[in-house]
Amino acid sequence: MSTTFILLQILSVFFCNFCLFPYYCNALHASRITHLPGFNGSLPFYLETGYVTVNEESGAELFYYFVESERNPSDDPLILFLVGGPYCSGFSGLALDVGPLGFMVKAYDGTLPTLISNPFSWTQISSIIFLDWPVGTGFSFSPSIVDYHTDEVKSAKQIYKFLIKWLLDHPSFQSNPFYVAGDSYGGKMAPLSALEIADGNENFRQPFVNLKGYLVGNPVTSDRIDISSQPPHAYGLGIISDELLKLIQINCVGEDYQNPKNAHCATNLKTLNVFLFEINKFSILRPKCPDDLFELREQKGNHRSIKEKISEFYTSLSVPNIDCANVCFRLLSNYWSNDRLTKEALHIKEGTVEEWHRCKHDLSNYTCNVPTSVPHHLNLIRRGYRALIYSGDHDLDIPFIGTLKWVRSLNFSIVENWRSWRAGGQVAGYTMLFSNNLTFATVKGGSHTAPNNMPLQCFVMFERWISHKSL
Ligand SMILES: *[C@@H]1O[C@H](CO)[C@@H](O)[C@H](O)[C@H]1NC(C)=O
Ligand SMILES: *[C@@H]1O[C@H](CO)[C@@H](O)[C@H](O)[C@H]1NC(C)=O
Ligand SMILES: *[C@@H]1O[C@H](CO)[C@@H](O)[C@H](O)[C@H]1NC(C)=O
Ligand SMILES: *[C@@H]1O[C@H](CO)[C@@H](O)[C@H](O)[C@H]1NC(C)=O
Repeated sequence: MSTTFILLQILSVFFCNFCLFPYYCNALHASRITHLPGFNGSLPFYLETGYVTVNEESGAELFYYFVESERNPSDDPLILFLVGGPYCSGFSGLALDVGPLGFMVKAYDGTLPTLISNPFSWTQISSIIFLDWPVGTGFSFSPSIVDYHTDEVKSAKQIYKFLIKWLLDHPSFQSNPFYVAGDSYGGKMAPLSALEIADGNENFRQPFVNLKGYLVGNPVTSDRIDISSQPPHAYGLGIISDELLKLIQINCVGEDYQNPKNAHCATNLKTLNVFLFEINKFSILRPKCPDDLFELREQKGNHRSIKEKISEFYTSLSVPNIDCANVCFRLLSNYWSNDRLTKEALHIKEGTVEEWHRCKHDLSNYTCNVPTSVPHHLNLIRRGYRALIYSGDHDLDIPFIGTLKWVRSLNFSIVENWRSWRAGGQVAGYTMLFSNNLTFATVKGGSHTAPNNMPLQCFVMFERWISHKSL
């Protein structure tokens, strides 16, 4: 770390403590964390948590976890990682996905869950901010109810505001190559936020964000494309019959799959959903476990009965079945994050968040006002930002075939046609390279959040792409 950086840090701490400049006072609430409850010994990486004020009038603050690159933080890329939901905590990225931590799999016995290191953490080669967005997610909070009502456009602006203030507090990271990453619903917010950043840069907003591109995994993009690709993918993966697929293809032409007008189409889709509901549609080879209900991406007004079931499961928080390892991780994260020792270690402000939820499923105060993010992708890629669009191919929620369909619809010319890419001496998936540095890749066997079940393969993919190497 440079001397300038240390000086600036000291200065900002000075300003903060003495409140000479309210702007800095608002922004800096960062703490270095060296130990975490349930982790043996001191953390083998630099972890910081903190709050950034995103609404000065109301006092709304977004909470983040920041992990410095274990290689060379002054040169390695800086990544803002957005997980799905909306309303899933950035903790999911830190401890259940691409981050440096994981939980030891064991049935919950009432003691504090054990945290272990993730040997395939992307923080080995990049610094990552895991953000609790929007207000109401994880440990982010506001004293005012107004901040709990938001939409997609506002969220993207708030994420940009967060980033600007975070970079003001961390000037040594202003020159690192910067990327926005997102998976699932975070994969919709990533291009929206990246476009806010690109526009801010063009309008000379300070500090300049050294945006180089973005990467998204099984990204929510456009319900029309995402959902209408479920039947052919379900057939391809052997979940539905050729006959049902044919009926859907005949009866559902031009239909909105979420609100079909044609009665035959509605019946066919109902049958499809019965088959999807029986299995873990986010990772079809994994067992279906009670907690998977939490993971359902709910649209306003849909899945009412599922919603009720979710709250049933939520309040019971039963002892997980050891076979349901993933459920185990999710439940363990709820136990761990709500422990008093954890809240102290993370420097959580008292009286801000009563009960931490890994994900919240009530979307009644969240408005979806961007029907498709395809134009955002097109705009960013045309402007020269690099993009990696990857898909775990065993996900039936956001099937890769729908993602590839909209990627092709951007009409960038093919530089390298469909070919396999390898990791650990084996085919790890397939990739296509388009002009303007647009890379599409599948992760063979990958789930809805592929780094979670294919950690080595996804690390290799990330390492190659972020280093400007061919997959
Ligand atoms: C913690 O780590 C130390 C040093 O690596 C090891 O000797 C000890 O057995 C570990 N303790 C537990 C409870 O895993
Ligand atoms: C939505 O907003 C209302 C107040 O306007 C509040 O009572 C309710 O708890 C909010 N719901 C969620 C899920 O945040
Ligand atoms: C891509 O090409 C198709 C067919 O020529 C055209 O209809 C479509 O508008 C093009 N899309 C874009 C984003 O240019
Ligand atoms: C692709 O990215 C490289 C840097 O990796 C850059 O030099 C080149 O101009 C980009 N190409 C296009 C077409 O944007």
